[in-house]
Amino acid sequence: MKRIGMLTSGGDCQALNAAMRGVVKSITVRDPEVEIYGFLEGYRGLIYGNFRMLSGHDFSGILTKGGTILGSSRTPFKTIKDPDENGLDKVEAMKQNYYKLKLDCLVILGGNGTHKTANLLREEGLNVITLPKTIDNDLWGTDMTFGFQSAVNIATDAIDCIHTTAASHGRVFIVEVMGHKVGWLTLNAGMAGGADIILIPEIPYDIDKVVDAINKRKERGSKFTILAVAEGAISKEDAALSKKELREKQKNTKYPSVSYEVAARIQEKTGAEVRVTVPGHTQRGGSPCPYDRVFASRLGSEAGKLILDGEYGFMVGIKNREIIKVPLEDVAGKLKYVSPDASIIKEAKMLGISFGD
Ligand code: F6P
Repeated sequence: MKRIGMLTSGGDCQALNAAMRGVVKSITVRDPEVEIYGFLEGYRGLIYGNFRMLSGHDFSGILTKGGTILGSSRTPFKTIKDPDENGLDKVEAMKQNYYKLKLDCLVILGGNGTHKTANLLREEGLNVITLPKTIDNDLWGTDMTFGFQSAVNIATDAIDCIHTTAASHGRVFIVEVMGHKVGWLTLNAGMAGGADIILIPEIPYDIDKVVDAINKRKERGSKFTILAVAEGAISKEDAALSKKELREKQKNTKYPSVSYEVAARIQEKTGAEVRVTVPGHTQRGGSPCPYDRVFASRLGSEAGKLILDGEYGFMVGIKNREIIKVPLEDVAGKLKYVSPDASIIKEAKMLGISFGD
């Protein structure tokens, strides 16, 4: 009989519940006595021994449910080795709770930061299996993370809605898309929504090129322009700054986010009316789309198999549509960026989409 600890850490996303259900279902088929300890609110639950014992029933009926039944929190990796406000050694506390409960392994669902801590726990001798969640799709070692396709759907819906109103008013519209430091979400939602200009962090933009693209559309008789702008988009000038100079600039900016700065600069240079829409956390909300339900279930199923086989220290991911296992030490600390030379970028440009470069 296996004893498994499970936690979801970092920003939530769709299909976390579907993935956990997949793990539990695939184990209970062969080990009905399995004991599951669900740590609440991410690593915080493991640090402070805050958990719920769960049975197969708790995972019934959650395939389609958004959020996470375990709750989540951000526990930054950069301070994980620092004692907490009461002097508690957090890494030691996680190990103690793992040993106290006589766990066979931890199943950890998370994104980048979560994987760094998961790898640290592996280095400290704990058995760990991870599953790649994030709407950002920025985890190295897997072609896709779950949550991503659902978020693409929501961000695309936002752009679709803007399309009708943009056409009526002849304005310039910016839809700001999440994605942290990478442009996967913006690129995919932008293309799916028929955005005219897509700005992503991996391709610093030149505002004059953005303005050129807007003017060209006008010359061709288009009344409106839609931009999909990643929350991490950056201008060529800013990309040339040192990290310190950029931090300083961002600290003193009057704009709530990059889209408002792009909007102000377009307005100033073209005189056009510009509107900004920020769908924000709606992109992480609601039910997982069918793709994510299937994908998360497949990942969960493979994770269950690894656990039953006693194979630990892996993230379960996908490569060329096949479910794979990737050593955690290879994943931790690496981001998967959109390559400016990727064929999808070339294809988008052939369609007339401007990246402002
Ligand atoms: O990593 C997922 C994500 O939604 C990013 O796209 C976004 O930058 C960030 O989380 C928002 O974080 P929070 O929910 O802590 O505001």
